[in-house]
Amino acid sequence: MTETKVLLPESALPARWYNIAADMPNRPQPVLHPGTGQPVGPDDLAPLFPMELILQEVSDTHEIPIPEPVREILRLWRPTPLFRAHRLEQSLGTRSRIFYKYEGVSPAGSHKPNTAVAQAYYSKQEGRDRLATETGAGQWGSALALACRLLGLECKVYMVKVSYHQKPYRRSMMEAWGASVVASPSEETEAGRAILEGNPDSPGSLGIAISEAVEDAAGRGDTAYALGSVLNHVLLHQTVIGQEALAQMELAGAFPDVVIGCVGGGSNFAGLAFPFIREKIAGKEIDVLACEPAACPTLTRGPFAYDFGDTGQLTPLVPMHTLGHDFVPAGIHAGGLRYHGVAPLISQLVLDGLVRAEAYGQNEVFASAVTFTGSEGIIPAPESAHAIHGAVMTALAADEEGVERTILFNLSGHGHFDMAAYDDYLAGNLEDFALPEDEIQRALAAIEPLPKPA
Ligand SMILES: Cc1ncc(COP(=O)(O)O)c(C=O)c1O
Repeated sequence: MTETKVLLPESALPARWYNIAADMPNRPQPVLHPGTGQPVGPDDLAPLFPMELILQEVSDTHEIPIPEPVREILRLWRPTPLFRAHRLEQSLGTRSRIFYKYEGVSPAGSHKPNTAVAQAYYSKQEGRDRLATETGAGQWGSALALACRLLGLECKVYMVKVSYHQKPYRRSMMEAWGASVVASPSEETEAGRAILEGNPDSPGSLGIAISEAVEDAAGRGDTAYALGSVLNHVLLHQTVIGQEALAQMELAGAFPDVVIGCVGGGSNFAGLAFPFIREKIAGKEIDVLACEPAACPTLTRGPFAYDFGDTGQLTPLVPMHTLGHDFVPAGIHAGGLRYHGVAPLISQLVLDGLVRAEAYGQNEVFASAVTFTGSEGIIPAPESAHAIHGAVMTALAADEEGVERTILFNLSGHGHFDMAAYDDYLAGNLEDFALPEDEIQRALAAIEPLPKPA
């Protein structure tokens, strides 16, 4: 029997990030300047991002070395464990083998610090001493607050207002790491004031908070903007997950038939899946499954189109699956999956048939989360529970077909700050939001005038 935990020594921490752009059959289309409709160049992005990250964004080099000071910090919690879910398998009665990579062991409780540390490092290298960002449920904000603290930078977080009030302890966590946190929409930016003027009770959204953080960073020479998902360099930094998992699966004497992750903007999914998709492109047969909420079904119901990354239309135009930049998803508990777009790299891979997607309702997702908790012990983040549900459904489908599969999923974070969501589920108060096609079409009208992908 395989061991329950497959652990790697610190010496096995990856030395390079894997850049899938170098291997993709079709490279993503360029990001466009909304004013000119022309591809954005490094100079357009320089006010927001350090040049090293801009170069990573457009790089077609296979592998990029991870700076030693970044690895030194990653070693605080990496390599992360890979688990064989023996007890989950038993409780499902499945013949399939289920493995999961657990990213909840980072100090912030998710995969997000993998890129936060790299982004803070390059910003500091370039002489900026402050970072501005947005956060939904607080996972990304706490990751960046941690990274800034460890590297000696100031950190300003625009936190979606509804989460600011619902998740006071995520805010305390960011403040304990020295960050300054404000509820978004705020009075501190033009974008925030414009929203509040129209709707003083606005609960905020990730799209609005991004507008505020981008405006903050663009207006100050000492400040860079940091994004926790979607962009190529963010996905790149997460590939330590999949590289470790490849080595750990080998130690376990197994190789996955199915690789699964939840998708908000796409960073944890990419982190696990891209090193395996490298094998798939080279000829291995692997089913790669992206799991998203039915309330925000970007990959399963949104078209592939150019769209803004934010509500305030401050970002460049990004080629991606999207529900439209002013789509406001229903208030599901998986706050980190409530984003209207998905990373261009993943969108292109879906378009090219290398990745497929499924969407789930939150009650079925929480049912699988509770089954998982009851067998494996870990209380998963509601976002990660979408991947658990994908794995459970895959195992049950294999049993029905009479086949045995090896399934690997990413458990991107723990849910210790999400207990209100579990309260709601256990009390039978969780709503499954049906998303009418009319609402999708209404939101998509906003992208009608924008350029179309080739
Ligand atoms: C635990 C966890 N998983 C997944 C996500 C979704 O983000 P991404 O798709 O970039 O991994 C988040 C976002 O906040 C998160 O906190």
